[in-house]
Amino acid sequence: MLGSDVSHPLVSQFGDALRRAGYSEASLRQAVGTSSSLMHDPRGSEVARQRLAAGNALHTLIKAFCLGIPVPRNELTHAVGAATVDYLVRLALVTWEQDTLIPLVAIDAAQDLLIAHDPARRGEPLMGDHVIGLGPAPRTLAALTVRLKARRVLDLGTGSGIQALLALNHCDEVVATDINPRALAYTRFNAALNRLAIPMTRQGNLFEPLAEEAFDLIVANPPYVLSPDSRLRFRDSGMAGDELSRTVVREAARHLTDGGFASILVSWAHGEGEAWQAPLASWVRGVGCDALLLRFRTYDPVTYASLWIKEEPEFAETLDRWLGYYDGLGIRAMSSGAVILRRRSGVNWMRSAQMLSTPIQDASQHLLRIFDASSRLSRMTDIELLEQRFRPHPSHRIHRTGISRGGSYVVEEQYLETIGGVPIRVSLGEFGARLLERLDGNRSLRTLASQLTPTRGMTAGDVARSAVQLVTQLFALGFLEIDGSAVDPRGIVDIDVDRRERSLVTS
Ligand SMILES: C[S@@+](CC[C@H](N)C(=O)[O-])C[C@H]1O[C@@H](n2cnc3c(N)ncnc32)[C@H](O)[C@@H]1O
Repeated sequence: MLGSDVSHPLVSQFGDALRRAGYSEASLRQAVGTSSSLMHDPRGSEVARQRLAAGNALHTLIKAFCLGIPVPRNELTHAVGAATVDYLVRLALVTWEQDTLIPLVAIDAAQDLLIAHDPARRGEPLMGDHVIGLGPAPRTLAALTVRLKARRVLDLGTGSGIQALLALNHCDEVVATDINPRALAYTRFNAALNRLAIPMTRQGNLFEPLAEEAFDLIVANPPYVLSPDSRLRFRDSGMAGDELSRTVVREAARHLTDGGFASILVSWAHGEGEAWQAPLASWVRGVGCDALLLRFRTYDPVTYASLWIKEEPEFAETLDRWLGYYDGLGIRAMSSGAVILRRRSGVNWMRSAQMLSTPIQDASQHLLRIFDASSRLSRMTDIELLEQRFRPHPSHRIHRTGISRGGSYVVEEQYLETIGGVPIRVSLGEFGARLLERLDGNRSLRTLASQLTPTRGMTAGDVARSAVQLVTQLFALGFLEIDGSAVDPRGIVDIDVDRRERSLVTS
């Protein structure tokens, strides 16, 4: 069993053997088309197995630890050495039958890290204390984490330890907590597997093991699912509705140092006709933080429940029970997303955006631009804004579609979309497109607005107001920069100066 002896040198040597053989995100993708364990997908793993040669150390390791296929003992011994095989057997990470070794652990790869976790096999119920691998949610949180140099970091609900280990790259001290002791054992095992410092691990419920401690960065991918169950620790919090997400957001704000960031994955219920931002806005109001509210997707109860219970053995009964639960709580719609907080004294701003997809690349720089721009906007009057010289930030592209009419193309739709970072789109009308083409960083917005020919029915005042509105939105979301400005290296700008609060909601 995984226990305190996970930091044994043989664990690090196992990691060395995996790396030496070339077990990495890129090689998994090349060999089997994914960098995540395929154990839950028998057809996918069968297709992948057909591509793997016998006798190749990398392919043996992929078969065992990505596809979950038993391998001949001599092949695994050849790949990692006899002492390591014996040690994996002792830790119950592999077992054996005659000359065959059966893997009981899966290993994912992300960036430069190898992450061991519990295998999930289709048709087999998961254990209550199952420790998850690198599915979309952990990767999304990793991408949405602000990677500033920090002294103390908290990874709440650490699971495999992926977020804690990524934080070691830019932080002095990492504290990883989980209610599940097996998760903390995996975290220590994975630190040793990657030859990294072992994070401080603390077992307990949410923020209880932390008393009044404060952190420069908090990351949390908690069991945010709106669920009537409490069996699966990684999914079910046992708290009613979206109470778990609300609690983590509000408590995280309390545990941040001034200037510290928190990135939290959340799920929340809202009324059918209610703006998706409304519940999140009520959670972050008055917590002493600037807040960026990101929505990934909104679901109806049937779609949402099916997504989370698709591996349950009694699917139909479980679906009925989950839908009855939502009905009882009056939940008609729910969304998933992330809340990014930065603790800051003074009047705080709140901003929201719809994400087109979950980010796959590091969005840290983009998040810093958003926080920097929103803070500048919160203390700038419209008059001052009109004096700024804006220009496009290079991290986006414009999309235009047109239709042929009378021998020329008429623009049907045009929008800006980020390249990398947080995937956001902003639609541009004809006025917006004309304004954007003139934002060259040389002339003030006031000058440019005065040179624009007003479209029918617009006064000069309307043009200036529309220009301020559009530029505010584009600057706040990182599509524009102000000439001569650079993001503060810590992403914190003059925190004492607050002229007025400006909150802009984009959907
Ligand atoms: C969705 S998993 C996320 C794991 C990991 N952070 C990641 O990104 O892959 C949620 C984790 O929260 C832990 N957890 C569940 N309830 C908790 C609680 N009340 N207090 C602390 N951790 C909890 C689970 O054991 C699980 O490891």
